[in-house]
Amino acid sequence: MLTVRAPATSANLGSGFDVFGVALERPADVVRVARADRTTIEVTGTGSQYIPEDPEKNTVGAVAEALDAPAHIEIDKGVRPASGLGSSAASAAAAAVALNELYARGRTREELVPIAAEGEAVVSGTAHADNVAPAILGGFTVAAGEGISQVDTAIPLVACLPEIVVSTRDARRVVPERATMEELVETVGAAATLTVGMCRGDPELVGEGMDDPVVTPARADLIDGYDDVRTAALEAGATGVTVSGAGPGVLAACGADDRRQIASAMLDAFAARGIDARAYPTRVG
Ligand code: HSE
Repeated sequence: MLTVRAPATSANLGSGFDVFGVALERPADVVRVARADRTTIEVTGTGSQYIPEDPEKNTVGAVAEALDAPAHIEIDKGVRPASGLGSSAASAAAAAVALNELYARGRTREELVPIAAEGEAVVSGTAHADNVAPAILGGFTVAAGEGISQVDTAIPLVACLPEIVVSTRDARRVVPERATMEELVETVGAAATLTVGMCRGDPELVGEGMDDPVVTPARADLIDGYDDVRTAALEAGATGVTVSGAGPGVLAACGADDRRQIASAMLDAFAARGIDARAYPTRVG
């Protein structure tokens, strides 16, 4: 059996809606593949009861089909589904890398990104590359049109995952259809600042660049306690805070030594609202 580990990812980073993504050092899915005459899927781990094992309905089934690579595929979920941490993307990315190697298909990592994105579309409805690109390429990625840019970096982060449900459909429905020129200028400024921060490995610039005036405020209303958690993280030393992907995960950028205290402040703020949560001190990986 061939084993591939695929990391959780966080898309958008505030100012880069549907464009920016980062791979997280943890948590991660582990996918094992073995050649077979037809594709079968077995899912274990966190939230596995919500994931269909039918290859027609599972993200990795579509990837196996696209690579003409039937296999028995075991998915050990470390990334909870519907978390905003790229759960389906992690499985799709790991399957694409593993099946490409198992069948010696010779696709480059870059060529595997659209294949994994198509697989992800099976569950999410749309083929965004902003989670699968960092899951496959690592680091910080910019998915602009057909092109993907990538840079390795190691910005410290805390991902905090509350036990609440936010549907991606709702999270996309609340995104405003229009932005003003003032909001556009602010968003471009933030996105550029964040990109420079990623390239320089500067958590201050990354945190500053997470602020966006359009998408995050609209989505924050769907996450009970978001404003309190954001304030708590900033007071504990975070350089910036935003919604992770479509939520309900919340992502904070920070210095490496501040991760534990920020994680604990975010957990306390959710707990004060009666919401259980889990925090992952991590970094871009
Ligand atoms: N960019 C996507 C969104 C990521 O925020 O809706 C979740 O699939």
